[in-house]
Amino acid sequence: MIFELNQKEPELFSGDLLAYFIRESEGKTVPCPSKAVRRKLKHAWKSGDFTGKKGQTFLFYPAASTKNPSAYRVLVIGLGKAADANDNNARREQLRLAAGTAVRQAAGLKVKSMMAVLPEKTGLEDSEVAECLTEGLILGSYRFDKYKSKKEDQDDSIAIEAFSLQAGTLDSQAVYEGMNQGKRAADAACRARDMANEPGNGWPPAKFAEFAQRLARKHKLSCEIIEKDAMKKLGMGGILGVNQGSAEPPKLVILKYEGGSKKTDPTLMLVGKGLTFDAGGISLKPGQGMEDMKYDMCGGAAVLSAMQAIAQERPQGINVLALVPSTENLPASTALKPGDIITHYNGKTSEIINTDAEGRLILADALAYGIATYAPDAVIDLATLTGAVIIGLGNHRTGLMATDDSLAEQILTAGDRAGEPLWRLPLGPEYSEQIKSQVADIKNTGGRGGGTSTAAAYLHEFVGDTPWAHLDIAGTAWNFTEKSYIPKGPSGIAVRTLVDLVRHWQGKKKGS
Ligand code: BES
Ligand code: MN
Ligand code: ZN
Repeated sequence: MIFELNQKEPELFSGDLLAYFIRESEGKTVPCPSKAVRRKLKHAWKSGDFTGKKGQTFLFYPAASTKNPSAYRVLVIGLGKAADANDNNARREQLRLAAGTAVRQAAGLKVKSMMAVLPEKTGLEDSEVAECLTEGLILGSYRFDKYKSKKEDQDDSIAIEAFSLQAGTLDSQAVYEGMNQGKRAADAACRARDMANEPGNGWPPAKFAEFAQRLARKHKLSCEIIEKDAMKKLGMGGILGVNQGSAEPPKLVILKYEGGSKKTDPTLMLVGKGLTFDAGGISLKPGQGMEDMKYDMCGGAAVLSAMQAIAQERPQGINVLALVPSTENLPASTALKPGDIITHYNGKTSEIINTDAEGRLILADALAYGIATYAPDAVIDLATLTGAVIIGLGNHRTGLMATDDSLAEQILTAGDRAGEPLWRLPLGPEYSEQIKSQVADIKNTGGRGGGTSTAAAYLHEFVGDTPWAHLDIAGTAWNFTEKSYIPKGPSGIAVRTLVDLVRHWQGKKKGS
C-alpha cells in the first residue's frame, strides 16, 4: 500500500476517489474548501439530505466536461458536530471515524486510489489532523484474506492500493510528520490484527519468535528466545506447566530497544500474553465459540507490534523491553491437572484449581524473570486474561489495574488519545486473600467474585515493588465496540495506546 503526501491541487487529482470531510453546522453555508463541491452540495444541504452528520456521506460523479474536479468520484464525509472546545480526544476520534467511513465506502466502490483533503479549523494541531485521519484510513481499510483461495472477487470490495493526503491550508511539514506518525502506529496495529487473525495452526509460539527475530535484524534490536530446556533450568514452572499438554514447544520471546544513553534513562518493560490457543486444558472450555480462543495471544501481538513502531521511531532517552511468554493450553494425558502444584520462577508455589486460568501462570514467570533480570523502572502487562472483565466493562473498555497512580494516569491518558479507552479496577489485600491456598503459597483462581481483580492479584505476587500496571484486554481485543475503522475480528487494541505512551513517556528518573 502506498501512502503519501500529495501537493497537487485536489482539482487536479485524477484518481478514483477524492474525499472531503465536512463538519455538521447550523449555518447556511457548507464549510467545504472546494467551491465546486460546495456548489454540488447546495441542494443536499438545503433539503437536509446531507448536513455533515457523523456517518453521513454524499457521493457524486463530476461531469466529464467540467474539469473541476477531475477525480472520477467525489465523496463528502460528515464529521459530526464540533466537539467540545476542550475535548481534543473527541476531535481526534471524529477524524478516525470519518476516515473509516470513507474507506469502507471506497472499498465497496472498488476504489484503488484515493486522495483525502484534510479539513480545516478542527481545533487540533495540523499534525494531529493528519495523524488521526491517516490512522482511520489505514485501520478502516484493513482486511485479512490470506486463507481465501479466491481473493477479492469473493466479497464485493477490493483493497485500496494508494492513499494520498492533501494538506489544503494546513502546514505541509506538520502534516507530513503527523501522517508518518499515524502510519507507523496504524501499520503496527494492523500487524497485530494479522497475527491474531492467524489460526492456531498458522501461528504457533515459534511464530512470535520468528517475528521478533526478524524485527531485531531489521532495526538492530536485541532479541533472545528462551527455549524449553532453558525454562527448565530457570525453573519456569508456570509456562512449562501450561505447555505440558501441547506438542508445540513453548517460547519466551524477549526483544530490547535501547534508546537510552544515560544510566538514569528509564526502562519500560512490556509483557504480553501469547497463548496461541486456549482450549482450557483439562478444565476444558465448552465447544461453543472455542474457535475464538485463537485470539488468546492478542496481548503478545500488541506488545511485539508496538515494538515495531517503536523501533521505527527510535525515541531517545528511553529503553523499551518486550517479553512474550507463548504456548498453547490443551488437554492431554500429559497436561497439568486440577490439584497439581507448580513452582514459579521466583520460587512461589501455586495450586492449580482450574487449568483454564492459565494466562496468569505464564505471565507470572515472565514478570518475575523480566524484573529480576532487567530491573525495569515500570512494567505493563497486557492479556486477554478474564471473561469477568467482559461482564464488568463489556466490549467498550480495557480493564486497568495498577500499583502506581502516575503510571495508571499516563496509560489512561494514552488510551484516551488513541481512542482505546480504559477503566481502572481495584487491586488490594481483599483480592489477594481470595487466592490463598491451603496447600501451596497461592492458588490460581479466586472463587466467583471479582475475577478480574483476583487474576491481577495473582500477577501482583510476581512484580514486587516495581511500578506495575495490568491491562485486561479480554473484552476489547476482538468484538470491540463497533467502529467504522475497526472491522469485525481482532481490533489490534492497545498497540496505539502503547506507542502513544512511549511517545509521551514521563517516567521517574532512576533513583528519584
Ligand atoms: N483466555 C481466557 C479469558 C477469556 C475468556 C478471554 C473469554 C476472552 C474471552 C482465560 O484463559 C480464561 O480462560 N479465564 C478463565 C479464568 C477462570 C477459570 C478463573 C475465565 O475467565 O473464565
Ligand atoms: Mn483459559
Ligand atoms: Zn486464556
